[in-house]
Amino acid sequence: MKLNITCIPGDGIGPEIVAQAKKVLNKVALVYDHEMNFRDVLMGGCSIDAYGVPLTQETIDAAKAADAVLMGSIGGNTSTSPWYKLEPSKRPEAGLLGIRKALGLFANLRPAYLYPQLKEACPLKEEAAVKGFDMLIMRELTGGLYFGERYTKEVDGELTATDTLVYKESEIRRIAIKAFEVARKRRKSVISVDKANVLDSSRLWRKVVEEVAKDYPDVALEHMLVDNCAMQLVRDPAQFDVVLTENMFGDILSDEASMITGSIGMLPSASLNDSSFGLYEPSHGSAPDIAGKDIANPIATVLSAAMMLRYTFNLDKEADSIENAVRKVLEEGYRTTDLMGSANEGEFKKVGCREMGDLLVERILYL
Ligand code: IPM
Ligand code: MG
Repeated sequence: MKLNITCIPGDGIGPEIVAQAKKVLNKVALVYDHEMNFRDVLMGGCSIDAYGVPLTQETIDAAKAADAVLMGSIGGNTSTSPWYKLEPSKRPEAGLLGIRKALGLFANLRPAYLYPQLKEACPLKEEAAVKGFDMLIMRELTGGLYFGERYTKEVDGELTATDTLVYKESEIRRIAIKAFEVARKRRKSVISVDKANVLDSSRLWRKVVEEVAKDYPDVALEHMLVDNCAMQLVRDPAQFDVVLTENMFGDILSDEASMITGSIGMLPSASLNDSSFGLYEPSHGSAPDIAGKDIANPIATVLSAAMMLRYTFNLDKEADSIENAVRKVLEEGYRTTDLMGSANEGEFKKVGCREMGDLLVERILYL
């Protein structure tokens, strides 16, 4: 099969981690007889430096022309980088939001799974770590506070900032359907997270989710308030299967969920529309403080590439081969710095970003 993949390495650690994912995909192509066609384009801070804007039409066109997009991360240090002196609509993050909107990527799937090998790196109480967890956060990605009207103006003699949180029924329905569909292929439970005790948008969210649930009698639905969910995630994460939530709650809860897997460097993501097209990226950011040092963890990006094989190309065996390789390196005791937890140096074999990539490549096998 010929796979046309547009890559957006981006900023910070982005180029390093995408390079490892490409190596792994090339090995998959070799072992399973596929052809990988990669094309690199700019987005984020590097695009600002080259073209003055974080997202160009050329990048959008290159993404649309591909079967899928593999992304690293964008953005820099928000207190020191000159990119953050620009007006908000010209900053790196605006590029990411722009491409999500331009490609209609309304469904963001963020699986958080605790590898048994990483129990020691899990910051939770031992009972929770031993029990393990395997959840999928289904985050709405093109609505809510991120895309509502915003402005800052003087009202009654003082500066007043406004952000609006807007959700239409149709936007809630389509993401809810995605959540119930994936729940059917998992443990058949959806926990929908909102703030219905305060927000109108959440009350509409609940109503629409309940309507959608009627078409899925085999899937259990529960509602949970977002503050309670934040607490339950660290108390008993095993209770979650599919977590359905709106854009900003999903942003926050997915960082929390990734941290309890042992490191934010483990969480992949897929951003999908209603076709097989998708944009795949790690859930973490560009970590500018460690960029170029060859210490970043490439696993979230490599696992994002596995999600790409599964969701866009329907290549389940190939995706399994990547996930197995990840399990294998962890089992064999290889760890990037972020995964060391409180372990002593001698307990594990500490490796850099490139070496972790090489180890994964060596473990891609024909299944
Ligand atoms: C994420 C990131 C982005 C988001 C930022 C970089 C705009 O935090 O993908 O989770 O908030 O969606
Ligand atoms: Mg985030």
